[in-house]
Amino acid sequence: VNGVRVAVVGATGAVGREIVRLLEERAFPLDDLVLVASARSEGRQLAFRGEELSVRALADGWHEGIDVALVSAGAAVSREILPQAAAAGMLGVDNSPEFRMDPAVPLVIPEINAHDLAWHRGIVANPNCTAITALVPLGPLHRSFGLRFLVTSSYQSASGSGMKGVRELAEQVEKLRGDEESLLHPDPGALPGGEVFPRTLAYNVVPVCASPDPNGSGFTTEELKMGDEARKILGIPNLECAATAVRVPVVAGHGVSAYARFDAPISADAAREALREAPGMRLVDDLESGAFPTPLDAAGIDEVLVGRIRQPAGDGHALLFFSVADNLRKGAALNAVQIAEHLVA
Ligand code: A2P
Repeated sequence: VNGVRVAVVGATGAVGREIVRLLEERAFPLDDLVLVASARSEGRQLAFRGEELSVRALADGWHEGIDVALVSAGAAVSREILPQAAAAGMLGVDNSPEFRMDPAVPLVIPEINAHDLAWHRGIVANPNCTAITALVPLGPLHRSFGLRFLVTSSYQSASGSGMKGVRELAEQVEKLRGDEESLLHPDPGALPGGEVFPRTLAYNVVPVCASPDPNGSGFTTEELKMGDEARKILGIPNLECAATAVRVPVVAGHGVSAYARFDAPISADAAREALREAPGMRLVDDLESGAFPTPLDAAGIDEVLVGRIRQPAGDGHALLFFSVADNLRKGAALNAVQIAEHLVA
């Protein structure tokens, strides 16, 4: 299809810039690209297909003439601009959490539930980056074995909090350079802090991503997304799930350690067989030869990498694995662009 006019809202952000890169890389069938960000970025030039495009400030009427918008500027912006634009006939692919659990909005990983795109009403939600990392392998495993119980621990990179998260981590690393011995007996008051992460992230791990569940469950909002989104995407309303989400001092790439139980008996070999040809992922799973996935292996590539597949002793229905994906690409920008590709096809 030609003649499609595309907008990227949040084009200057960590995810938005990756979206622009992917639209170019994947030769997305568009005739016109409009880049939108906050007034702070008005007039900034971004390269696209050999041209310099000027960033526009988000303003009323931004969606006029736009067929598809990829929106990644935070939940507040999505809430404000998407329902109105959708009512005017535009298709919005929303990377924010705002509409993910809305029953009128499909939540889609194209490799898993592209069929849900059929019932959109102008907005499609892009899932949480950590949920995508776990669900790309869990989708085929669910189809073969029937997922019924899921426990995850995620190791989430700084860029999950945007470029400001990456800058905060880099500043902290810089401040502590040469001071590593002081970290054997740290003076809490002297540790570098910041605004994005609730504790020092450099040389540390922080077991709180996002904010506490307002309902007081003791989970964080990031942790609740894993179960909520898995239930919706896989279509398992009664899936039991418990997640722990941890921020780690990594720039890009989220890792997820998953413990899953299935209705049918499963084995490590049967799981590998089910995953060998699965779309959107690659098995990197040979412990003996040192093949296992890390965030640095996943950063900058499209596939979710899956390894460390194993079965706990004495439980023929359970499986453990570790999967890693580039949180800005498959975890966000790439999945959004794939959704847009389906929508315009
Ligand atoms: P800007 O760069 O002008 O602030 P990140 O997740 O990396 O922090 O990026 C967030 C993206 O969302 C940026 O492109 C940012 O633009 C954009 N953004 C944030 N707030 C607004 C807003 N109120 N209106 C339009 N764009 C916004």
